[in-house]
Amino acid sequence: MYKIAVIPGDGTGPEVVNEGLKVLVAASKKFNFQYETKSFDFSGQRYLKTGKLVDDQDVLELKKYSAIYLGAVGDPEVKPGIIETGVLLKLRFALDQYINLRPVKLYNSKFCPLKDKRPEDIDFVVVRENSEGLYKGMGEFKDKATKDEVAIQISYNTRKGVQRCIRYAFEYTRKRNKRKKLTLCGKTNVLTFAWDLWQRTFNEVALEYPDVTTDYAHVDAATMWFVKNPEWFDVIVTDNMFGDIITDLGAMIQGGMGIAAGGNINPQGVSMFEPIGGSAPKYTGKNVINPLAAICAVGMMLESLGEAQAAKAIEGAVIGLVSNKLKSLSAGKMGYSTTEVGDLVVKNL
Ligand code: IPM
Ligand code: MN
Repeated sequence: MYKIAVIPGDGTGPEVVNEGLKVLVAASKKFNFQYETKSFDFSGQRYLKTGKLVDDQDVLELKKYSAIYLGAVGDPEVKPGIIETGVLLKLRFALDQYINLRPVKLYNSKFCPLKDKRPEDIDFVVVRENSEGLYKGMGEFKDKATKDEVAIQISYNTRKGVQRCIRYAFEYTRKRNKRKKLTLCGKTNVLTFAWDLWQRTFNEVALEYPDVTTDYAHVDAATMWFVKNPEWFDVIVTDNMFGDIITDLGAMIQGGMGIAAGGNINPQGVSMFEPIGGSAPKYTGKNVINPLAAICAVGMMLESLGEAQAAKAIEGAVIGLVSNKLKSLSAGKMGYSTTEVGDLVVKNL
């Protein structure tokens, strides 16, 4: 019996989570697994009413679950950063979800903004470090609000943190067993402390994986290759900030935010799965947002729980829908409503 904590969150989060849960019901019947869900209201609206975000008690409670399923965070009525750090980043850090796993996979050429790229050309995975780097929140102001003001934001990289991320990426590349190529994406030519540590650690860990081909790309060049030659990539490992940036570009080449899912992984603990697109306030409550990213996140969650067959079947159902029915993957242009798309995935399944 899996225990799933559900955090619908803000904006369109609750709408897409509903569709994901429909698919979860259908998958559990078809593949014979049991689960229970409990919903947690960590949202901008709750914060406005109560001042509460995620506290240590909440974290203790969530540690009892098999997985967390998250819709989206970010409410335009709340100052930017509060919900993001108080809910999403708080959970990632407190649950030590040190990997952010973001597959970039094109399901059908017609949704790719790049000319002449086929599904076999765009099929890679970004392993983003998810617990350190610029996200650590270290830094300071000097002489704040004066003409001599200085703002310092530190990229914090520990050998242990970098090592566990890189090791995960090598293991993942080996298990994925496609091209068996791992690309380190960094900035060794300028960020000579952080990326020196990353490069040395990468070279060291690589010795344990002679079956994996290694490569390196500066992050700026990587954005160019994403557009020009995405077929060069199999698995990419990078730090928290670069991973954040390149995976939005990755989402676009796979067809947009409507289809991009990710997992915040603690391989020894509780992981959290989410569509990566955010709360899309302007589409909230209109039944037009694309729920496929949230549905794919359910697939990733089931995969991590050991329900590989169910995960594969959900992906198949999504591919079928994307190929045969949807006019677009963007909100309001799919040719179907949010709830209809969820129903169609269930039907395909
Ligand atoms: C993401 C988001 C978050 C991040 C924000 C909402 C804090 O952009 O999951 O990529 O920067 O990690
Ligand atoms: Mn992001």
